[in-house]
Amino acid sequence: MDNFTFCSPTRYVLGRGVEARTGELVREMGCRKVLVVYGGGSARRSGLLGRVEESLTAVGVEFVEMGGVQPNPTDPLVREGIEIVRREGVDGLLPVGGGSVIDTAKAIAAGALYDGDFWDFFCGKAVVGKALPIGVVLTIPAAGSEGSGNSVITRQSDLRKISIRTDFWLCPKFAVMNPELTFTLPAEQTAAGVADMMSHIMERYFSTTEGVETTDRVAEGVLLAIITEAPRVMAEPGNYDARANIMWAGTLAHNGVCGCGRREDWASHGLEHELSALYGVTHGAGLAVMFPAWMEYMAGKRPFKIAQYARRVFGVDIADDREAALEGVRRLRDFFRSLGLPVTIAELGIENPDIDTLVTRFHENKGIPAGAYYPLQPEDTRTIYTSVIK
Ligand code: NZQ
Ligand code: ZN
Repeated sequence: MDNFTFCSPTRYVLGRGVEARTGELVREMGCRKVLVVYGGGSARRSGLLGRVEESLTAVGVEFVEMGGVQPNPTDPLVREGIEIVRREGVDGLLPVGGGSVIDTAKAIAAGALYDGDFWDFFCGKAVVGKALPIGVVLTIPAAGSEGSGNSVITRQSDLRKISIRTDFWLCPKFAVMNPELTFTLPAEQTAAGVADMMSHIMERYFSTTEGVETTDRVAEGVLLAIITEAPRVMAEPGNYDARANIMWAGTLAHNGVCGCGRREDWASHGLEHELSALYGVTHGAGLAVMFPAWMEYMAGKRPFKIAQYARRVFGVDIADDREAALEGVRRLRDFFRSLGLPVTIAELGIENPDIDTLVTRFHENKGIPAGAYYPLQPEDTRTIYTSVIK
């Protein structure tokens, strides 16, 4: 096991009606005026935004609003948010939504206290060293941004989708998580969220670091819970306990606990980010295609951890590592299909993917080689993308 520091500084407040506590939590965060960030309108239509703003008013916290964040969020709205924060004297961020809304708020929180252009953080010119405090009202379990110090933004001018990771500054101070708020999610978003949270665990699980049985077992436990609960939320979207379990799993998948003591991979996320940057696909749906593709390739290159996953998570009973790994990939694909997820690039609605550009951009963003479990060279990357064209 490698040395590690684990800090999940977020206060997770999960339960029915907990959005009524938002005002009190914002005040405890030390803020007097927040920017409420939201997406395309689901939070307003459901009445959630109104309830959250009422709770702010009730404790004397002022607010200004900025809506319109789209999935796979882009830089112009971050710049607009930074301007609002400076102009209005805002001292905290309150995203109400999913990963796209939260990540936009995080980029604003860092950019507002920085003299240069916020994109410097994303292109590696600067490192986040301070940020306004962020509190979250979560409406979709998927990206895990409520418990991560990460933000993922796409630059509109050249469609560069870049992820930054901070250990502390961009971790939300609190996350309000009412599972009832997720009853209204379209089935395809619920399913994509499941694929995303499973991927966050697997990026950490597929590691060459040895002696991490405790972290392995935590990861397997959360994966097993997701595999049990996901079919229930798909069949009964209003099942509170199933929704609550999926919501909590989405947070545990990405708050760092499943990665303690080991080197993580993250190549599959990089492979997906190029698809969503170029073609605008839903992140979790793209992962349902790219993660099994990566695992299938690994079965031929470095099967041992994929085989362990197949045996412990999917109950595969095959002695040979490569065969066990391949059977694990088949079962994972079947599971994704059972949730209505795509497993090929064509099923994502992309008929003629530009493989050259995908490979080039992946390595521009992730380096050569890329990933840690089995470092990918461009020829490996090409084979992986090509294997799931149809
Ligand atoms: O915009 P609105 O109208 O709110 O609709 C959203 C959006 O269309 C809808 N939605 C959300 N909650 C809803 C709802 N519809 C009905 N009822 C509700 N309760 O769902 C759609 C997707 O929202 P989005 O925020 O894009 O989803 P998600 O949480 O999956 O976030 C995806 C983004 O997060 C990034 C992804 O790359 C992508 O850009 N990621 C962020 C990470 C992080 N910060 O740690 C890690 C992840 O790996 C990921 O890369
Ligand atoms: Zn993800």
